[in-house]
Amino acid sequence: MAAKNLHSKPFDEETITKLEIFENYAQEWLPTFIMQGKPNLCIFDFFAGTGYDMAGVPGSPIRLLHKIKEQQGNIFQKKVHITLFLNEFEPNKKTQDKFEALRTACDIFMTANANLKHVVEIKYYNEDFEGLFPVLLPEIKKFPSLVFLDQNGIKFTSEKYFLELEKTYQTDFLYFISSSYFWRFGKKREFTMHLEIDMDEAKKDPYKFIHRNVISQIRNKLPPRTKLKLYPFSLKRDQNIHGIIFGASHPRAVDKFLGVAWAKNTVNGQANFDIDDDALKDQLDLFKGKIKKRVEAFQDIVRTKILNGEITNNAQLYDFTLGEGHISTHTVEILKQMKTRKEISYDCTSPLANYDNVYKKPRLLEYIVLSKK
Ligand SMILES: C[S@@+](CC[C@H](N)C(=O)[O-])C[C@H]1O[C@@H](n2cnc3c(N)ncnc32)[C@H](O)[C@@H]1O
Repeated sequence: MAAKNLHSKPFDEETITKLEIFENYAQEWLPTFIMQGKPNLCIFDFFAGTGYDMAGVPGSPIRLLHKIKEQQGNIFQKKVHITLFLNEFEPNKKTQDKFEALRTACDIFMTANANLKHVVEIKYYNEDFEGLFPVLLPEIKKFPSLVFLDQNGIKFTSEKYFLELEKTYQTDFLYFISSSYFWRFGKKREFTMHLEIDMDEAKKDPYKFIHRNVISQIRNKLPPRTKLKLYPFSLKRDQNIHGIIFGASHPRAVDKFLGVAWAKNTVNGQANFDIDDDALKDQLDLFKGKIKKRVEAFQDIVRTKILNGEITNNAQLYDFTLGEGHISTHTVEILKQMKTRKEISYDCTSPLANYDNVYKKPRLLEYIVLSKK
């Protein structure tokens, strides 16, 4: 299958959404570690492209440089050193045009922002990802790392990369995959040799869920007691469903990513389209009454779990919230309603089911059930 050349025309809307999710996550990731005064931080963009598209819209490496620039003062003050590893390689061409364009774009940016040289070092590579990944893996493992894997298609969606990333303990990654290829070609050897997906299982759900379903099968390939959490963000363009897989082990990272994803889509937090048909749920179903939207359905589950004693405190509630791919604002809303209705009580103005109160400065808050009606 011929790889699409993303840089021969302006980025489409779906690509821009993907890049905004990358950069918005970088914007959250950078200050977290900079303010902790971690001496070395690393960012890897293994499929970096040319820096800009044909219309001059920045691609991932330039977006990353902008985000680093925004943090320049803090980086300097906290004496943090950032290494940006940028790789671009055109497998089927003898030229290095795209790689040279990448280097030129970043050099111009660095020259125009001379102070950045004191806080960020760029390492350039013009190598096939397959060979470069194992070479850079020890670097990924050494320091807190953010890894972008913005491949074309699915060629590098191999189990072996997930298993290697799973072994790192301070790495967050955003992995782009063209999930609809699995729907069309998932049983072919060229695909199964990279990643075996049970397509009969995946096809039990409608096509629009393919990205979610590919991820749930990748989850099953991780070691049983893994701490690595994977989250989807599906990206629809015409008939194709692509998507980002976010992966991280630390709840703070998951919290930040889910914040970015829900800011992108406040209805489902999981896609650039109405994946769960939530818009239709505004209309009353004649037979079923009001059908709950994704957030309302989640809040119903939270309410039931608290009333039946499965969730009894803020720590359990917060872990459950992240596990379900939701954010604290969704739980605060329902807990406050339950308190007002005198279904529960808790000794605080807020239910404290957030990162700061559960992990950063733990403060346990019990939820007391008053009435189960
Ligand atoms: C989806 S694009 C990345 C776009 C980039 N993130 C941006 O914002 O412009 C994928 C890039 O990977 C490059 N590429 C293709 N095969 C590769 C390989 N085997 N190793 C490394 N890079 C590769 C392509 O030339 C292309 O520029």
